[in-house]
Amino acid sequence: MPEILIDSSEGVMTLTLNRPEKKNSFTAAMYAACADALELAKDDAALRVVVIQGHATVFSAGNDIGDFLNAPASRENAPVFRFLRGMAAFPKPLVAAVCGPAVGIGTTLLFHCDLVYAGDNAAFSMPFVNLGLCPEAGSSLLVPQMMGYHRAAEALLLGEPFMAEAALEVGLVNRIVPPTEANAVAHLQARKLAAKPINALVETKRLLKKGQLAQVLERIDEEALSFARLLQEPAAKEAFTAFMNKRHPDLSKTV
Ligand code: COA
Repeated sequence: MPEILIDSSEGVMTLTLNRPEKKNSFTAAMYAACADALELAKDDAALRVVVIQGHATVFSAGNDIGDFLNAPASRENAPVFRFLRGMAAFPKPLVAAVCGPAVGIGTTLLFHCDLVYAGDNAAFSMPFVNLGLCPEAGSSLLVPQMMGYHRAAEALLLGEPFMAEAALEVGLVNRIVPPTEANAVAHLQARKLAAKPINALVETKRLLKKGQLAQVLERIDEEALSFARLLQEPAAKEAFTAFMNKRHPDLSKTV
């Protein structure tokens, strides 16, 4: 079974994260499949909206931690960066349905979506520092912009998770729904968008984001350099090894 399911109908392309046995954590192949799908949707006049969804119990546990240890993204055009730039620059509406854990990139990718519908079980977290890492996906810019500096610091320095209600309050989420309905609600909204004039949608999104895209792309690149450096340091190695061995990390002696 593919780990990204791609379905297109009624002008809506749906990307379903489908690696439930590993909590929909992203591998390089999954980033590549999503990046390719976005490129296709961008240029296909029949596709007007993209929906990203997981399952009623989990959205995504973030990057595959084994990949962080054994196959970290190093090249500028690595699939993860193609995916992130593709999300940030996607000209048509992006809609997400999020239930259960949304960890790391499972949360940060949402800052690039136009509409987000969350199950009442959604739990957002960006535990980069706890893994010896720093923010990615432009989140060091977008999280404080949306949540305010102090809430961003709780989420990014302490790595504290926050639930659907808090996400609604800061504006990351449009509506909270029962988890079994989240995907259907996202689709309903996506189909409403797909029925609107595409040129007006694209122009409106461009204007809404005007002045921000260049900054976001620059921040994604700057974060990627720091992230790649930190991935090689002892704190990250210890955090990932501990996760793989199902033990608590000992970060007290790492820098
Ligand atoms: N990378 C690789 N494997 C992962 C993973 C990840 N990011 N997240 C979960 N898995 C795997 C687990 O190792 C486990 O595999 P196993 O069955 O072979 O042992 C399986 O998915 C189920 O995970 P488990 O932790 O038992 O599920 P849970 O429901 O108790 O907890 C999470 C779910 C998402 C809270 C927890 O898995 C988690 O914290 N994952 C890591 C998140 C993370 O730090 N991501 C990186 C962000 S930068």
